[in-house]
Amino acid sequence: MNPKNMKRRDFLHTGLKLATGAMFMGSGASSLLGAPLFGESKQTIETVTLNNNVEMPILGFGTNTLNGSIGQRCVAEAISLGYGLIDTAKIYGNEESVGRGIKQSAANRETLFVTSKLWVSDAGHENTMKAFHVSLKKLDLDYLDLYLIHRPRGDFKGSWKAMEALYKEGKIRAIGVSNFDPSQLKKLIASSDIIPAVNQIETHAFFTQNKQYDFLSGMGVQHEAWSPLAEGRNGIFRNEALATIGKKYNKNNAQVSLRWHYQRGIVAIPRTSQKAHMIENLNIFDFQLDDADMQTIAGLDLNKTQFPEWK
Ligand SMILES: NC(=O)c1ccc[n+]([C@@H]2O[C@H](COP(=O)([O-])OP(=O)(O)OC[C@H]3O[C@@H](n4cnc5c(N)ncnc54)[C@H](OP(=O)(O)O)[C@@H]3O)[C@@H](O)[C@H]2O)c1
Repeated sequence: MNPKNMKRRDFLHTGLKLATGAMFMGSGASSLLGAPLFGESKQTIETVTLNNNVEMPILGFGTNTLNGSIGQRCVAEAISLGYGLIDTAKIYGNEESVGRGIKQSAANRETLFVTSKLWVSDAGHENTMKAFHVSLKKLDLDYLDLYLIHRPRGDFKGSWKAMEALYKEGKIRAIGVSNFDPSQLKKLIASSDIIPAVNQIETHAFFTQNKQYDFLSGMGVQHEAWSPLAEGRNGIFRNEALATIGKKYNKNNAQVSLRWHYQRGIVAIPRTSQKAHMIENLNIFDFQLDDADMQTIAGLDLNKTQFPEWK
């Protein structure tokens, strides 16, 4: 399989701003827990084009802490609602659950965009080769859409060489990094054949990452937001500025936040264990934040991580 030429399902190619708020038919009513949601309309999600021409959904589903049968159920439910991008990692300990959720959804593999990540203990060429194949086996997949170096620790240049080889072999459609700062990214690029397609970094209304945003855009690296809802920290779901904006469009704080990511062209992967929230988080394509709204949200920036424990 040539990763660049692999065909994608039509809905991943829309490139349209789709107003799809009305697409759900009685959402919440037709789900039998653990079964595909037949009869329920799916959300259509726009894509971004990565620097190797692979299409990546601009909105996806995060799975950190969604383990065991809960993880399986959430992934199956999310896919049934229209999420195509599923984000997991070795360190979440849920790749098997995610794989079972994918199977349960009965989705055509080509309609999905599955990301996993290499953990720091697997840095280096040989370890990366092994860890990648373990992840693939746990997910019960033949290939990954995106594989990321989770953190810039240890021999990440050796890891990157292994990932380049796996990419060229067709085992991964796009390769990228996570939690790299500009200098680390520059170092990696200077010694690489392939420029990372994605940098997944903490980004939300309280940490807007403006410098990285401009840097990544200049380098042609797609900005992806982890914890796009700040994991609920700093009172984001009660924030008054977001609520005031939301009232104008009949949207809540989560939806305003996700719309803000979308309008910046950032891929966001909110996580939720609740079906109602999965639906809310998808329902962001039928309104438009104006310039004043965007500026108000930009003004919430505290310019520092909300996860100091991970430094
Ligand atoms: N690369 C990295 O180093 C890294 C680090 C962190 C995260 N990630 C990835 O990014 C994903 C998302 O980040 P995250 O899981 O840390 O946090 P998040 O998506 O920012 O927030 C998740 C929290 O928001 C709540 N929530 C979601 N939708 C909501 C809604 N519509 N209304 C109210 N509450 C809502 C969830 O609770 P309920 O379950 O109750 O809805 C959950 O407590 C992760 O799952 C993971 O895949 C990557």
